[in-house]
Amino acid sequence: MKTYDIAVIPGDGIGLEVMPEALRVLERVADICGFVLKFHNYDWNCETWLRTGQMMPNDGINQLSQSDSILLGAVGFPSVPDHISLWGLLIPIRREFHQYVNLRPVRLLPGIPCPLANKKPGDIDFWIVRENCEGEYSQIGGVFGEGTPSEGAMQTAVFTRYGTDRILRYAFDYARKLGRPHVTSATKSNGLFHSMPYWDSRFEAIGKEYPDIRIDQYHIDILAARFVMSPERFDVVVGSNLFGDILSDLGPGITGTIAVAPSANINPERTYPSMFEPVHGSAPDIAGRFIANPVGQIWAAAMMLEHLGEVEAANLVMKAIEKALDDPLAPRTPDMGGKAGTRELGNAITKKIVA
Ligand code: NAD
Ligand code: IPM
Ligand code: MN
Repeated sequence: MKTYDIAVIPGDGIGLEVMPEALRVLERVADICGFVLKFHNYDWNCETWLRTGQMMPNDGINQLSQSDSILLGAVGFPSVPDHISLWGLLIPIRREFHQYVNLRPVRLLPGIPCPLANKKPGDIDFWIVRENCEGEYSQIGGVFGEGTPSEGAMQTAVFTRYGTDRILRYAFDYARKLGRPHVTSATKSNGLFHSMPYWDSRFEAIGKEYPDIRIDQYHIDILAARFVMSPERFDVVVGSNLFGDILSDLGPGITGTIAVAPSANINPERTYPSMFEPVHGSAPDIAGRFIANPVGQIWAAAMMLEHLGEVEAANLVMKAIEKALDDPLAPRTPDMGGKAGTRELGNAITKKIVA
């Protein structure tokens, strides 16, 4: 029987609460579809850092490299400064494994109250393609003039031609694959003097390779407004690391809750494992109460199955999520206006998985 090795990193906070629900769903769908998922648990998180001064061991990346895919919960907790915890675990995984595509769907699911008036499932349904390995996320720069009147901080953004072209091409190819030949680029070339004019010039050049695809570009400020005012107009939205990050909380925000949104950190060449996680973080404000919505983690698991080539299983999981949420009697977690717990919603979804 086909067997996959899955590295599981529940991480911090609600990561530890939503992960078991995704694993249960995965076990059930693997049973039905006839393959085996071997879960290898890695308990690396902020507690590890407090104990050892590291988020993961020195050979952590090497340990993960043995797996077919990585399923991650969330990283970060108030006990450790965020730039230490994230640059100690999540960001090195994305970079070391060249997961330069961060694919994040924005979709209004049934049964979730939408904060925008008169929207129904189908009205909001698009994809964010976020650059995931360079851009504004960098450790280049520093604090200068410390303790003097001219003290300050500088932070350098890096846009290589190689890194920019490959994410743009992925977005165009993805739009083709979806049969939705339209790509929108997020820019800010009126304010950022060097990086964004460069991004625009590469978008224009790569766009010429895809004459069948309609292109649009908006400055990030008005793009944010258009996400709220007319989300129907989008198919594939491509953005830099930082712009993609912000848009991929805003997108799920307009669909009612960020807690349902998944995130696929993909190494398209498959030289290294890809990593799947929810868009949300460790939610320290609700951690420990088992009221977190597990849908983002479960949807991330579905994206992992699709990446592994288990497309039927991925579809069964997506259908189960939609069926569970569509049922007016289904348990709903507080972020969706209900009173149910993590486990109850996880159970309801697991039960809807049928061959
Ligand atoms: P967050 O996503 O953790 O929480 C934002 C808000 O959304 C909170 O009110 C939270 O209760 C709510 N929320 C998030 N997920 C939910 C869920 N599944 N069900 C119900 N409600 C949910 O963002 P934050 O507060 O900015 O960050 C908290 C920590 O998580 C920080 O350390 C941050 O760096 C980290 N973080 C990690 C990741 C990741 O690992 N990929 C992503 C985002 C944030
Ligand atoms: C995300 C998160 C991370 C990011 C943080 C925690 C570093 O917000 O995955 O969206 O900005 O990439
Ligand atoms: Mn984010």
